[in-house]
Amino acid sequence: IFADSETASIAIAQELAEFIRLRTREGRPAVLGLATGSSPTRVYEELVRLHREEGLSFQNVVTFNLDEYFPMAPDSLQSYVRFMREYLFDHIDIRPENVHIPDGTAPADQVADYCRRYEEQIRDAGGIDWQLLGIGRTGHIGFNEPGSGAASRTRLITLDHITRTDAASDFYGEENVPRRAITMGVGTILEARHIVLLAWGEGKAAVVKRMVEGEPTDTVPATYLQHHPAVQVVLDEAAAAELS
Ligand code: F6R
Repeated sequence: IFADSETASIAIAQELAEFIRLRTREGRPAVLGLATGSSPTRVYEELVRLHREEGLSFQNVVTFNLDEYFPMAPDSLQSYVRFMREYLFDHIDIRPENVHIPDGTAPADQVADYCRRYEEQIRDAGGIDWQLLGIGRTGHIGFNEPGSGAASRTRLITLDHITRTDAASDFYGEENVPRRAITMGVGTILEARHIVLLAWGEGKAAVVKRMVEGEPTDTVPATYLQHHPAVQVVLDEAAAAELS
């Protein structure tokens, strides 16, 4: 629990940078699972600063994003491809072929195959070393809405009403928010070797309490993180306020 999200984000970016440097010294890739949304933006800004000012290289980094709206064109204002380019990829030396983001343009009848290939790509890369997560007010991680089981894999899901309400301002109205998304599954996420979940602000306090102190249940998929051996939950004081 940090005094504020600024201090917390910088500390997490420094930890991540240390991991990337370690892997670079070892000559092995660092495989990162990445999230979009408001929670990780300050972490990404700090990584960009570390690249520009302290020579942090991403040549050895391979990334897999958690999710993407469906359908979604990559050049749309709200696409996660665009988000990641804007906050991170356009400002660092990552190899384009090492970036993976679920494809919101896959034809609907081929999405299941596409999702299986996404899982294969993660396996072929050696699995995810370091997974960054946010949490939605529904208790989702990735877009694993209530009802998502602990063994769920990358797939097409229907977004919860609350999630679409929370995204409404990005889309100039809830009616414009896509109804579906492609997301890594809870099971996919739980295979990451190290997981860091970020939550800021009083709006997250209730769901953070349920995630940390509630019984593991598919009505709050983030509770399944309790089964993982190496999770860091990183909060500001407001998001931690309801913890007992
Ligand atoms: C985004 C994602 C979501 C968000 C969550 C919190 O890739 O997977 O689970 O992390 O909806 O969003 P923010 O950070 O905007 O509150």
